[in-house]
Amino acid sequence: MYEYAFSKGGCRMVDLRGRDFLKLLDFTPKEIEHLLKVAATLKKQKHSHVSHKYLKGKQVALIFEKDSTRTRCSFEAGAVDLGMHATYIGPTGSQLGKKETIADTARVLCRMYDGIEYRGFDQTIVEDLAKYSSVPVWNGLTNEFHPTQMLADVMTVKEEFGRLKGITLCFCGDARNNVGNSLMVVCSKLGMNFVCAAPKDLFPKEELVKTCEEICKKTGGSIRLETDIMKATKDADVLYTDVWVSMGEPMELWESRIKLLKPYQVNKAVMENASKKAIFLHCLPSFHNIDTTIGKEIYEKFGITEMEVTDEVFESSHSRVFEEAENRMHTIKAVMLETLKK
Ligand code: CP
Ligand code: NVA
Repeated sequence: MYEYAFSKGGCRMVDLRGRDFLKLLDFTPKEIEHLLKVAATLKKQKHSHVSHKYLKGKQVALIFEKDSTRTRCSFEAGAVDLGMHATYIGPTGSQLGKKETIADTARVLCRMYDGIEYRGFDQTIVEDLAKYSSVPVWNGLTNEFHPTQMLADVMTVKEEFGRLKGITLCFCGDARNNVGNSLMVVCSKLGMNFVCAAPKDLFPKEELVKTCEEICKKTGGSIRLETDIMKATKDADVLYTDVWVSMGEPMELWESRIKLLKPYQVNKAVMENASKKAIFLHCLPSFHNIDTTIGKEIYEKFGITEMEVTDEVFESSHSRVFEEAENRMHTIKAVMLETLKK
């Protein structure tokens, strides 16, 4: 059943069975493209209500040391769609971190589960988890990288433009956060042009820029770091932004980040500066109004009603943020399927 469904979609030469999914730097362009094809097939099956329980009887453990809506639900709903059972382990209620190390947790969970997802802090934690686990470990977001998000993002871009090579994606905002870093990596891997619009202090780390520039030499992609948002976004195909303060960063940072990043907000003028057919993406959650607890708090303290993106752009015809959010599930299913299948 599996081979039949995917014989036309994926690449037969790609074999990801047993692999961890920790960061996209570990994957070849062919492997990433393969995951996108599998995700597209799974999306079609889901939309046409074709059963796809290819991993029936397997079980996965989902560790979340930080909050999540999209990633958690994609793994949980995706696991059930594929015929699996999922156990959610939240920030409280387990021994992890307080009485038990990552290494011991990994060695316990891999005896009970077929795969382990981890969302949390340092990238070294998920890398350690993988080192001590005999089953695949998937990175659901760390301080440095958010690789499953990337698959959904480029899937959305491909659905829009029919291709990835040569597409220019401009990330506006905190370009050295997990999403900024990962976008630079995925664009390099897939021959896309990555532009960042950010203050110099929030440019991605030089070492990662160098690594990505080397990758670009082989794939035809490019990297440009700009401090001028109008220069950066001129004629871009995709504008992307993310929150100005990420999970795990202290609340006290808001004041300085607002000052630093206000000029990098994606508003109507910035959107109109991009290509006519440009789309807007955001990993979400987003502060585009004051209808949330934190949104309200920021408004009361600093008097701003919108942050990284204006409500106008967020709700505009350019916005593909909910298509992107849906694609989180299809791409996460592709990762689970390809690493866990027999
Ligand atoms: N984009 C994303 O990772 O969303 P969640 O934090 O809701 O999982
Ligand atoms: N940079 C954000 C991404 C959320 C999906 C964070 O880490 O909070």
